[in-house]
Amino acid sequence: MIPYMIMTFLYFLVAVIAALAASFASWQIMPWFNGMVWLRVHFITLGILTQLVFGVMPILSAKHYGLPRPKMRWDIWLSLNAGIALLLIGIPLVSSVPIITGGTLVFIATALLLVQMAGIRAQSEKVSAITNGRKFYIAGLSYFLVGILVGTGLFTNWSGPLGIVGDAGEVHIHANNWGFMSLVFIGFFVDLYPKWAKRPLSNPKAITPIFWMMTTGALALILSPWFANTTLAAIGALLHTSANIWLLVIAIKPLRGDKPAWTPGMAQMLISYLWLFAPLSMAPFVIFGIESVLPAKLLEATTPQALIYGWLLQFGYAIVPYFFHRFFFDEETAELGGSWLSFWLVNVGAVFLWASILIQPVRGLLHGGAYMLWVASFIPVGIDLWKMVQKGMAKAETAVARPA
Ligand code: HEM
Repeated sequence: MIPYMIMTFLYFLVAVIAALAASFASWQIMPWFNGMVWLRVHFITLGILTQLVFGVMPILSAKHYGLPRPKMRWDIWLSLNAGIALLLIGIPLVSSVPIITGGTLVFIATALLLVQMAGIRAQSEKVSAITNGRKFYIAGLSYFLVGILVGTGLFTNWSGPLGIVGDAGEVHIHANNWGFMSLVFIGFFVDLYPKWAKRPLSNPKAITPIFWMMTTGALALILSPWFANTTLAAIGALLHTSANIWLLVIAIKPLRGDKPAWTPGMAQMLISYLWLFAPLSMAPFVIFGIESVLPAKLLEATTPQALIYGWLLQFGYAIVPYFFHRFFFDEETAELGGSWLSFWLVNVGAVFLWASILIQPVRGLLHGGAYMLWVASFIPVGIDLWKMVQKGMAKAETAVARPA
């Protein structure tokens, strides 16, 4: 697990620099630097979160089934990280060979992990009956394969041969966010909420219907831009949002009236879903292009950033430190990460970015302000992670050095 955590921390650092550059570019401090959106979005999505979830999913499922902890799969780690490195070269250069090779390697890493997850099975009926996150991880990884295929094809003209008649960029975003990440995050809630909240989710019977609503909702939201079919978008948005709201209800209910249970980590995880719902609520304006009320084109171009920073990054502020603590120090009872400072900075940042869409005269100022607030929100979490990397690696090296 350590190689995944080291790469996660590395990308955490470069994500800070990318956000800083984006802020300076919007404030015309570095007018010559346009701050590539792809880099700052994928340092978070691929570099931080995909990295971490690839490491933890097999360990959590094996643990649930009482199986020995799976050995480190270097083939998966190597193909994932070689793939990301080649994409970091190919996408900014819009060069097909590194893009296709990189995308193919990430696809192979995901397929290998999917096979590994499918092989982690209950050894008895009794255990398999207990609800766990495995099916969410497997469904999420399946949608990620679609997201990788379409993403790799965006700059290499695969959309036509794939039969995509609508917006291929949207197919990619939907497969990776409404599919991959949404499903994996619910898998984490199912497997880890009892540890995080020190009490069970309020209604375990809701997990299976939530799984099917989320999986079919994500499918409809992927096929909608694929076939330019707005009915599918409406069905998908309804199923997906209802499933997420149901999840939030069974996660918030057990915390009601218990103030100490609302730790910064728990608050960041639950509140982050506001920034998942926000773009979905704007969908009608984008789908029907109602420019008279809201700048639909700008909405479409900008809201993915608020989704990635407001939802994915904020959720990451809670779970990344939790997994670092758990796996560097072998403490299952580790606390969720994040702080009230990062909570306010990341959410005010997301408000600034949305305001930059709506308030034209100060758009650049607000857009730059959003990124500066997000840069500041990284710092308390970054310091926490750095301390854990230092102590965790010292502990690992001492263990290696100690004579058998
Ligand atoms: C192998 C993996 C991936 C590849 C090859 C890939 C490729 C791409 C490409 C080519 C774009 C278009 C950039 C542009 O138009 O400037 C894009 C945009 C995007 N991707 Fe990915 N991507 C990958 C993984 C992911 C993951 C895991 C996520 C999220 C969980 C993600 C979320 C996004 C978002 C939100 C955008 C829109 C960015 C914006 O325009 O603001 N991608 N991706």
